[in-house]
Amino acid sequence: MNEPAAVQFFHVWDTYAKVVAANYMFHRELGAAVKVVLRARFGARPFSVLDLGCGDAATFAPLLEDFSLIRYRGADLSEAALALARQNLSRLSCPVELIRADLLSELSAAPQSDVIYVSFALHHLATQAKAQFFQLAAQKLTPEGLLLVVDVVREEGESLAAYHSAYCAWLRDTMAVLDESEKDAICDHLMNNDFPEPSSALKAQAEAAGLQIIETAAPQKWHRLLSFGKR
Ligand SMILES: C[S@@+](CC[C@H](N)C(=O)[O-])C[C@H]1O[C@@H](n2cnc3c(N)ncnc32)[C@H](O)[C@@H]1O
Repeated sequence: MNEPAAVQFFHVWDTYAKVVAANYMFHRELGAAVKVVLRARFGARPFSVLDLGCGDAATFAPLLEDFSLIRYRGADLSEAALALARQNLSRLSCPVELIRADLLSELSAAPQSDVIYVSFALHHLATQAKAQFFQLAAQKLTPEGLLLVVDVVREEGESLAAYHSAYCAWLRDTMAVLDESEKDAICDHLMNNDFPEPSSALKAQAEAAGLQIIETAAPQKWHRLLSFGKR
């Protein structure tokens, strides 16, 4: 299987790892918010997880170690990512399944899950494919299940071009651990592969699919958690 451009991201994976380690995309705050939502919904009850666009699962795996899981199933288009994910998930005591697949195909094929998690991957889909994602997620959630969307969103009224330009300017100012060629590579990647929506558009698509918003967290204007349950 050839890797589409969004997945060639793994060619700048070391750079992404630096961004995550420096918490420039607010993984720490977003992870803490995810934990609160999971604890509130499941308490000590075991639950199953479907992680779409799981990448190396480096930030999600340690968070899950504090919960009782029935199973973890992760999907990503990148073989390199899945190999790293296997190592990072090795401390989970539940069955772990890793699949090389497109996230929409995997969502159609997967069994129902208590938690569907998609972190910094949904923005790679076109608007119509995001609507399809929410329709499928609503079908594949168990009745008490949670859909957790961690992602970049555009500000209300901000065009995609304005977002790309503002995000690149922000990262060039903020991401001090990266050198200029790494910043160029991220900007090039996001201009070509990132299509975030305003959060109102994601909520509208979710509502049209029969989902309702449960909790949101916004440690920064573009970096958010939106969690949904069935109505
Ligand atoms: C920015 S990384 C996020 C990784 C991880 N979920 C996180 O939060 O750190 C985006 C991941 O989505 C994957 N990806 C992009 N488009 C995809 C698609 N259509 N189906 C499955 N995975 C995809 C990429 O290979 C990459 O691993």
